[in-house]
Amino acid sequence: MIDQQNPNRQNRRVRTRKIGQSGNYWYAVELSKNLRKGKSKEVIFWKSSIAIYRGADGKVRALENRCAHRQLRLTTGVVDGNDIICQYHGWTYNGCGECIKISHELGKGKKDRLPNIKVGHYPVQEKYGLIWIFPGNPEVAGKVSIPKIPQLEQQKPWKFIPLDFTINAHFSMVLENVCDFNHAFLHRDLRPFTDPHLLGYDRKDDAITIDYETDLSQSQVVKIAGEKQGKDFDKMTLWYNYPFQASNISDKYLHWLFMVPIDEKTTRCFFIFLFGSLEIPFIRVQIPQIVRKPLIRLINKFYVVPLLKQDLWALEEEQIAHDKHSGHHHYEFNPIITEFQKMSLQKWDEYLESESERMKNEKAKGNKLFFPGAGISEKDLNFFEKQRKEEGVTA
Ligand code: FES
Ligand SMILES: [Fe+2]
Repeated sequence: MIDQQNPNRQNRRVRTRKIGQSGNYWYAVELSKNLRKGKSKEVIFWKSSIAIYRGADGKVRALENRCAHRQLRLTTGVVDGNDIICQYHGWTYNGCGECIKISHELGKGKKDRLPNIKVGHYPVQEKYGLIWIFPGNPEVAGKVSIPKIPQLEQQKPWKFIPLDFTINAHFSMVLENVCDFNHAFLHRDLRPFTDPHLLGYDRKDDAITIDYETDLSQSQVVKIAGEKQGKDFDKMTLWYNYPFQASNISDKYLHWLFMVPIDEKTTRCFFIFLFGSLEIPFIRVQIPQIVRKPLIRLINKFYVVPLLKQDLWALEEEQIAHDKHSGHHHYEFNPIITEFQKMSLQKWDEYLESESERMKNEKAKGNKLFFPGAGISEKDLNFFEKQRKEEGVTA
């Protein structure tokens, strides 16, 4: 049955499940420890393949993952010093995507003159054990910050171990799962939250803040190592702070979720869980930060990962169900879901709009080497422009 009751709502949900995330933000794309000096790796941002590589100087660079010659992936090539060489004919690219060396002949009389050949490149930073790239307009990168985690910036940073999951579901489903506590039933054995009540939510600029009241003392891990066995904790604040998600319980238990939208059915998720207060069972004395890592490893293994796997299972089922039944009426009782979808759609449109403007400006300047942000192509931008014209929107 097609949703006749509220076509806008149906369209909003279906449309949300098709979009990517704006490239004009920083995205964690890989764990730093997974990229050694002299090695490259392919990462995907919304269907765009990106080559990241760590040069001899230890710095990471990110390029469009294609050689300008026959379009082979650069990640099949070799890292040489701070450059990367395509495996096929050996063209060499620097960290700005410029082809700086072609080892074979260039045609009669042209041997010394290297043509102006380039592929796109992306700003890169490393922070919190993660490699971050800025997939959109590189000129905006300096004005946007990587999300700040104060507990990891202080003099004695809290210990943490990032978790890396790839989920076969659209990023908007992942977001809705993490912030909608109406799914307590799914976790009825592990009980991370019990009897949740939405107290309220509020959108300000790029952030939606959500407050819940819930019993947080029912899980085994909280009963064993939580401060006062979780008895004083019954409030939780969560955020969809575009493009990432986070939560906070009394500044003592927090998490961040940094997502990379890969395609309509795949999202890579980097979780950082922070446990500020952990007690030794029975004597209820604080466990010092210095011995936290092995303990966090145990908590992750026996509690956090099994918990996330329950969500992962539900999300992958939801994606399959969405593909089969997207036209059906969909009952929704949590108002934050609509707010999330509105914000995701708005930001995606803003991305298309700003990249479309940038393309027009660059072309007007005669720039033949314009590279749209990752996740979108010139074809997408032309289609976006055409749609806007049809809708009568002028820039
Ligand atoms: S395909 Fe890369 S050098 Fe030819
Ligand atoms: Fe969950």
